[in-house]
Amino acid sequence: MVALFAAIIAVCSCKGDPTLSRDVKSYDDPLMQNEKKITAIIKNMTLEEKIEMLHGKHYFTSEGVPAQGIAEMNYADGPFGIREEMEPLSWNPLHWSTDSATFFPTGSALAATWSEELAYLYGTGMAREARLRGKDMILGPAINIQRIPTGGRTYEYLSEDPLLSSRLSVNYTKGVQDNGVAVCVKHFALNNQETNRGSVNVIVSPRAMREIYLPPFEAAIVEANAYGVMAAYNKINGTWCAENPVLLDQILRKDWGFKGMVISDWGGTHSTVGSVTAGLNVEMPSKDYMGQALLDSVKVGVVSEKVIDERVREILRVRMVIDPVPADKANKVMTAQPECADITYKVAAQSVVLLKNEGNVLPIDLNKVKTIAVIGDNADKIMATGGVGAGVKALYEVTPLAGLRNRVGDKAKIVYAQGYTSQQARGGFGGFGGFGGGFGRRGGNAAPAQPDNTAQKLKDEAVKAAKGADIVLFIGGDNRAHETEGSDRRSMDLPFNQEEVLEAVAKVNPNVVFIAVAGAPVDLNRVQACSPAIVQSWFNGTEGGNALADILIGKISPSGRLPFSYPFKLEDSPAYATGSFPQTDAPINQDVFVSLVQKDDKAEEMLKGATGRGTALYTEDLLVGYRWFDTKEKPVMYPFGYGLGYSEIEYSYLGGISFLETEKGKVLEIKVKITNKGKYDQYDVPQLYVHRVDPKVEWPYKELKAFTKVLVPAGETVVATMHLPVESLKYWDEEAHDWKMDATEFDVMLCRDAGTVVNKAVLTLKNL
Ligand code: BGC
Repeated sequence: MVALFAAIIAVCSCKGDPTLSRDVKSYDDPLMQNEKKITAIIKNMTLEEKIEMLHGKHYFTSEGVPAQGIAEMNYADGPFGIREEMEPLSWNPLHWSTDSATFFPTGSALAATWSEELAYLYGTGMAREARLRGKDMILGPAINIQRIPTGGRTYEYLSEDPLLSSRLSVNYTKGVQDNGVAVCVKHFALNNQETNRGSVNVIVSPRAMREIYLPPFEAAIVEANAYGVMAAYNKINGTWCAENPVLLDQILRKDWGFKGMVISDWGGTHSTVGSVTAGLNVEMPSKDYMGQALLDSVKVGVVSEKVIDERVREILRVRMVIDPVPADKANKVMTAQPECADITYKVAAQSVVLLKNEGNVLPIDLNKVKTIAVIGDNADKIMATGGVGAGVKALYEVTPLAGLRNRVGDKAKIVYAQGYTSQQARGGFGGFGGFGGGFGRRGGNAAPAQPDNTAQKLKDEAVKAAKGADIVLFIGGDNRAHETEGSDRRSMDLPFNQEEVLEAVAKVNPNVVFIAVAGAPVDLNRVQACSPAIVQSWFNGTEGGNALADILIGKISPSGRLPFSYPFKLEDSPAYATGSFPQTDAPINQDVFVSLVQKDDKAEEMLKGATGRGTALYTEDLLVGYRWFDTKEKPVMYPFGYGLGYSEIEYSYLGGISFLETEKGKVLEIKVKITNKGKYDQYDVPQLYVHRVDPKVEWPYKELKAFTKVLVPAGETVVATMHLPVESLKYWDEEAHDWKMDATEFDVMLCRDAGTVVNKAVLTLKNL
């Protein structure tokens, strides 16, 4: 029920410039502390030495200044685990005995925690393992907005919402950089699809860019001082990201005051003069454009040495604030650390989303349940590897089945049946060192039909296991070959005929919990009809199976919230509804990275950019994710921000809204009283959305503007405080090229999720 909770609040104090331009990083940042030293270093460098720094030395290093004792830069994939060591100039793993790392929950899992604290902790863990391996810069976090539900990297990215993504990217960045390692936020920018990612031209309005797609980058740079940025493969408005002056010079360096270094995505550089002048510091991993060609360009006077000095300076700024790990200290112990495994448990435990729980099927009562049937390929599947750049050679990974066995012990009998197989799914990288057939050609999502007798046998086993059980845990979803960098899913369909098995199982035992292990939304329409309980789990890291088991047996109440909307059908979602994805103006191309690695005949052509294909018109403009469903009044299966717990939670207001004057301008403070009426301690995530009542420009119906996560002990009431910066209510005025206030009257809505408004207040801002 929606009730008006506060009267009109008039604010009339803001003096001076009514546009209140946003923060630009101040000059006392660490990157600016060594300018004099850097000037001296550059003075003593030859042009050749300078050029050596501007391209890959090895696949994951770039040169320092050896003559002056300045170390090279060591990079490490990726966003959720320090990647195994490979030969310097190949993708072949070295098979070290000490380079197994912790597998951290992937991006959408972290985002589902809605926890800034956990994002920070996550960053600290990544940095710790990076240092043990002698790495200076982590190639992550990956923070592009999830524009399409089928995106190959949806699992790697955080969310469809700029605020949620920003808060997590800021905290991940701080966690890493506070612990002596640089981040490289990627992929800057608008790498929102994998289809033709190496050639697609994204056509987007400046306003959608500033309000939807850039905020996670802006926040990481302005607020957390991210030291590195990776330019994306694609073009924006006709220009490759790695040579895009609007992106790299105007927005990144001038508007946001970025002082660090930009590296290209692997094989994403397409020019010499354009790239170095726009602001690219390092071409990775090769030197097709920023090696000899750059040297020649300076020698003949097409590029001035001043530009080269500037690019070298930006790299040295980062190099000087990151202490290199001495060679005799790196790689002395196992990369994976027990403390980091604990972090993955904490993140996983708060990431799992309970979507449906009819008749309180969950949690499993181990006093009553004697036999648990665990069914599904994903119950026992390792998810650390796959997905090209982001595979992790994990020291260990607790699968859901192993987690259940650990936690249930002898309190109940667990019977496992695989039910279906994903064996014959399309290829893809099976971790590093090999390419499966079909990768990059969009081999399709449907597994080729299994021989009938195998499929039938697996199904029969599943039915048999279910028959004799008190409860069925069907653990299905996607996997890391199905959701992967380099291609997008063709649909949200659950692969490998798993629904058929689920339906057969539900016929003999209706007490089914369907657990989707996936990094993105899947089609749950058939699942709904036969599963009284549904859980969204994720590619959830080293300790993921233990965390999931603790939730299923009620040791922990679930508190994850969806970081994206869950549409009923794919065609409802904005890029599909507007016909902007999949693009029909280009055939599906070989993936740029696969070409690079395979050094096939297409590679040359791709890398030279001759195959520029595909135009992605972002016609939905600002209406990404829930902004679309809300504004167009299209129902969704589960809204953005949605998630249940085992305890019932009640909201009420305390003191309405007040204003704070802070260093960063005016901030609305909203306090919410949250009561836990159940018997489980539970985290809750109150969310504030804003709707403009009297706008002059067009807006989405409502937008998330603040949230928090608080622990509410069983039977208790806590007060949660949320802060909403007035500045964040502005829009990007394309003509003025600045942020402007539009409406003066707003509905501030307290919501459980984007689809459930609990309460709202009218807010009037004057003279802003
Ligand atoms: C990916 C990057 C990754 C790089 C190096 C590229 O294909 O897009 O995210 O960091 O490879 O592995």
